[in-house]
Amino acid sequence: MTRRSMTSADVRGKRVLCRVDFNVPLDGNTITDDTRIRAALPTINWLREHEAKVILCSHAGRPKGKVVESMRLRPAGERLAELIDVPVIIAPDVTGDALKATIAEMSDGDVLLLENLRFDPREEKNDPAMAKELADLADIYVNDAFGAAHRAHASTAGIADYLPAYLGLLMQKEVDSLGRLLDSPDRPFAAIIGGAKVSDKIAVLENLVSKVDHLLIGGGMANTFLLAQGKQIGKSLVEADKVDLANKIIADAEASGVTLHLPTDAIVAGDIKAEVGTVVSVDAIPADQAIFDIGPETAHAYADIILGMKTVLWNGPLGVAENPAFAGGTRSVAEAVGATDGFTVIGGGDSVAAIEKLGLADKIDHISTGGGASLELLEGKELPGIAAIPEE
Ligand code: 3PG
Repeated sequence: MTRRSMTSADVRGKRVLCRVDFNVPLDGNTITDDTRIRAALPTINWLREHEAKVILCSHAGRPKGKVVESMRLRPAGERLAELIDVPVIIAPDVTGDALKATIAEMSDGDVLLLENLRFDPREEKNDPAMAKELADLADIYVNDAFGAAHRAHASTAGIADYLPAYLGLLMQKEVDSLGRLLDSPDRPFAAIIGGAKVSDKIAVLENLVSKVDHLLIGGGMANTFLLAQGKQIGKSLVEADKVDLANKIIADAEASGVTLHLPTDAIVAGDIKAEVGTVVSVDAIPADQAIFDIGPETAHAYADIILGMKTVLWNGPLGVAENPAFAGGTRSVAEAVGATDGFTVIGGGDSVAAIEKLGLADKIDHISTGGGASLELLEGKELPGIAAIPEE
């Protein structure tokens, strides 16, 4: 289903309220990763080139309906001004008459950023009154906030009832890339799913297990699968109550003709902060040690599979990658995903951070800006921020 793109809108001279996701990590007032701001630039530049008055709005953090000084959007606005090399008017409000007056003074091509939408308690409640007040600021609504598309809030969903609504360019790229994985992947297709817990990824695994050719499991969640296979996993992190689920996913994979891969060796240590680990077979995990990474044999096997794929999805680290002693598996997978000729998509903050740290980001076809949103899309759910936009 194709949703209406902003490129079909006549925005010249119009006030366009564009929802972006400028929820970026901050250290004090310094943005430590401006990826999401840069990802919104194609939409912002397109609107400016087409002589719209660009009114941007976003949330930042979780201020719970109150003004929280450390969650103001000024740093994001200042960074945006540097990136587009034009001034950005940073408004002190989210709605209201003073804001309307400022907007009335805007010229075509000007850019204004509202204050953090979540300073208003009505935003997260998807309060129609707030949606209407936001709509009153503009003539057209564009949603480019993929990172927040899984939230049904006033600025991501409710507002579309009051203004002609369109998808922004980033949203479209996210929906097209992630949709391609689910609907029409070139084969063979492998998904590498890591991360600490099976419980975080159950729905993704259940949805992907019938769609991929290879499912490669790593990270802490692999331990629950190993336990399901009857292995002794020592002191490793495990969700014993999810063993049945792991068995079901193993059975579903078999029934769908999907090859499910589990680690054959691991890096173990007595402590997550250890400076060095030991390589052992998954059949010989010492009782007093825990698994913190996939082992080199597994890393090689996974890399070989990845290199032979036409489509690759990667979500979640393969080990405790923040400790260099346990980062080897994640690094091998990142390098293989970067080197494969197939169509590659990475979602989830930790795997994105790994690929960026290795300087391989430009080797990936699509790096999703959504954490929760990309997971929910891969789970096969309809995202409220997308569903609110009319079909083409
Ligand atoms: C994110 O960082 O995943 C998005 O900006 C959504 O933020 P939220 O989880 O606070 O809604």
